[in-house]
Amino acid sequence: MIRILLLFSFISLAVADEATDMGPPQPPPPLVAQGCFACHGPAGDSAGGAIPAIAGLPRGYLLRVLRDYRYGGRFSTLMGRLVRGYSDVQLMVLADYFSRQPFSPPRQRIDWDLAAKGRQLDRIYCRRCHGDGDHPPVAGAPSLQGHRMTYLRWTLQDYLLGINQGDEAMAEQLALLVRRHGEAGLEALVHYYASANAKP
Ligand code: HEC
Ligand code: HEC
Repeated sequence: MIRILLLFSFISLAVADEATDMGPPQPPPPLVAQGCFACHGPAGDSAGGAIPAIAGLPRGYLLRVLRDYRYGGRFSTLMGRLVRGYSDVQLMVLADYFSRQPFSPPRQRIDWDLAAKGRQLDRIYCRRCHGDGDHPPVAGAPSLQGHRMTYLRWTLQDYLLGINQGDEAMAEQLALLVRRHGEAGLEALVHYYASANAKP
């Protein structure tokens, strides 16, 4: 009996410890954001395949992308239709909320030779805007580190085909990269960005 009591008090101590480790209780996510979790993962942090994680993207970027989906400046299979149901204020609430959530990059299969080549290309063509572990991105450009490969491939194709109207200076760099290094250059970049949290 004593043993069982001891066990019980041990468990309740452990539970109490865990509760204090979690810090002050977080406010629940705004109701408008909860409809996004089904596809983008809880708090926008994990998703699968061609659905990107949206946690931790810069607020300004989120807001612009959501507005572009709504007015047709950015290609989408789903988001364009979906976002038409939200008001401007709701889009701001969404951008605010998701920009404050932590992002944990997914594990992916990396070709390390390609990733090394991609790192060199990134320094020449992309890093000055998108940043990397050592440099922050410039305002308006999201970090590309840790993104899903499938999502990166699709999105890059959408920019190249011009159905995503992004930054003009970026379009120039992307065109230059493809002229000089072809599809292989793009694939190298995809492996480099996806490798952000992976170990060889
Ligand atoms: C039914 C699934 C689905 C739901 C629900 C959904 N999304 Fe998406 N989201 C997608 C897909 C798929 C994409 C890729 C673009 C496309 O094809 O529509 C995307 C892309 C995005 C992007 C672009 C990310 C980037 O890195 O450029 C943002 C931002 C986004 N969604 C925000 C939201 C928000 C906010 C909500 C809730 C209001 C939401 N999504 C609900 C499927 C969904
Ligand atoms: C002059 C600055 C600049 C340069 C250089 C640049 N980009 Fe961008 N990039 C941006 C901006 C700004 C955005 C957001 C544009 C938008 O609204 O679609 C962006 C968006 C992106 C996105 C979409 C991210 C997402 O989450 O959906 C990808 C992928 C991307 N860039 C890849 C690249 C690659 C690869 C290179 C190098 C070949 C590159 N960029 C060079 C400024 C730049």
